[in-house]
Amino acid sequence: MEHLKPACFNETPNQAKVIFVEAQYIDQNIKKWIESFGVKVSNVTEGIYTPPADGKVNIHNDTKTLSNATKINFTWGPNTSVTRWWRVKDKSMLQVDITDSTHIMNAVNPDIADHFDNNNLHSELTCAEQHCVMMHEAVIDKPSLINVGQLHSTYNPHKTEGRWSLCYFLLNQDYTHLQFENAVNIFKEVAYE
Ligand SMILES: [Fe+2]
Repeated sequence: MEHLKPACFNETPNQAKVIFVEAQYIDQNIKKWIESFGVKVSNVTEGIYTPPADGKVNIHNDTKTLSNATKINFTWGPNTSVTRWWRVKDKSMLQVDITDSTHIMNAVNPDIADHFDNNNLHSELTCAEQHCVMMHEAVIDKPSLINVGQLHSTYNPHKTEGRWSLCYFLLNQDYTHLQFENAVNIFKEVAYE
């Protein structure tokens, strides 16, 4: 499945960056294709840029607690850049990262309400690399299922070429997160994990 590269990915930021991808940039054929498997695609869609020359997106997860929430990712860029998964050695070393999410509150309801704290701010976990053990590393250059409830990061060794990823949260019909194990089952013929 080829996804049209969103026009908002034509910029080249000079550092790692996460952007909210507006509905107009979503390839509706891809959305229909994903939803033909009986899952919902969240309105909260992110674009993640990893700069070249050993650029990184630091270790984090995408949900309020460690979980098995799943995204499907489409990536443009060098086929040497990787996603890495990590296990924290001691959970007390996890840090809560709160970000202002006002810009997605219109899109979010009722999607993934469990990402937000009582003040409607987006909450996720981060962790310093020295407190983690790398569990897995993979080049993500095809549509891929990603367990984003667990700690992960990106790394791009390419000298000059940046990497953009487009990530769709996969949801059950009741807007709860599709669990990674179920996603692997549902998409086993067509996506990589
Ligand atoms: Fe992430």
